[in-house]
Amino acid sequence: MHPSQWTALDSYFNETLGLSDPILDAALARAAAAGLPAHEVAPNQGRMLQIFAQMTRARRILEIGTLGGYSAICMARALPSDGRLISLERDPAHAQVARQNVELAGLSGIVRIMTGDAHASLDQLRRDALEPFDLIFIDADKQHNPAYLEAALALSRDGTVIVADNIARAGRLQDAGSQDDPDVRGVQAFLQQLGQDLRLNSTAIQTVGAKGWDGYSLSIVRR
Ligand code: SAH
Ligand code: DHB
Ligand code: MG
Repeated sequence: MHPSQWTALDSYFNETLGLSDPILDAALARAAAAGLPAHEVAPNQGRMLQIFAQMTRARRILEIGTLGGYSAICMARALPSDGRLISLERDPAHAQVARQNVELAGLSGIVRIMTGDAHASLDQLRRDALEPFDLIFIDADKQHNPAYLEAALALSRDGTVIVADNIARAGRLQDAGSQDDPDVRGVQAFLQQLGQDLRLNSTAIQTVGAKGWDGYSLSIVRR
């Protein structure tokens, strides 16, 4: 199997299952036109996130790493009209594109994008002590995944689901030559936390597709 076949099969899934639509396509086009990197989840992964939100009957969702708002739109579509998705984005240019995409998706009433470093925004959310989140998607700078997990736990309840993107990174997690990469180290430390923290029941899944060889972790909080 060759990566071009992974991409071709993803296209087939997308067409057969109808995983894209004009709003998502336009969000991608606006992000590309603004020069944002194409680091958003693929359409089939976006639908998976939406289904996770539906499975958890999520009313409150937290995302760390907004980019152009693609995954935020996917998840927010699962929310009831009084639901809330808060997404954290450091880069003001990314946040601006995301706000426009969310607005054009008709979701600006339920999606709030907090601009600024995620660490500061997470501290703010902890101080605010609002209702805990039902679903948390970690998808920002991977070197800080351990800190994001700690914050996610502090903002969770029994049953909260935590998903983290990019846990395989084309095998670099285990490549001898990548062991000094801060992102690789961050993901490794994050996975160790998942394995050791008694508040978490976790798994890790590798994926191939249009986004290459990567993966995600899936955890449920029990307390
Ligand atoms: N979840 C998005 C993709 C996110 S890409 C999607 O699937 O559509 C990662 C994003 O995290 C980038 O926009 C980057 O600017 C942001 N980011 C990186 N480090 C950050 C930090 N410390 N705080 C907040 N956002 C950060
Ligand atoms: C990359 C992909 C991602 O999904 C992400 O969140 C960050 C970076 C990448 O391909 O480099
Ligand atoms: Mg990602």
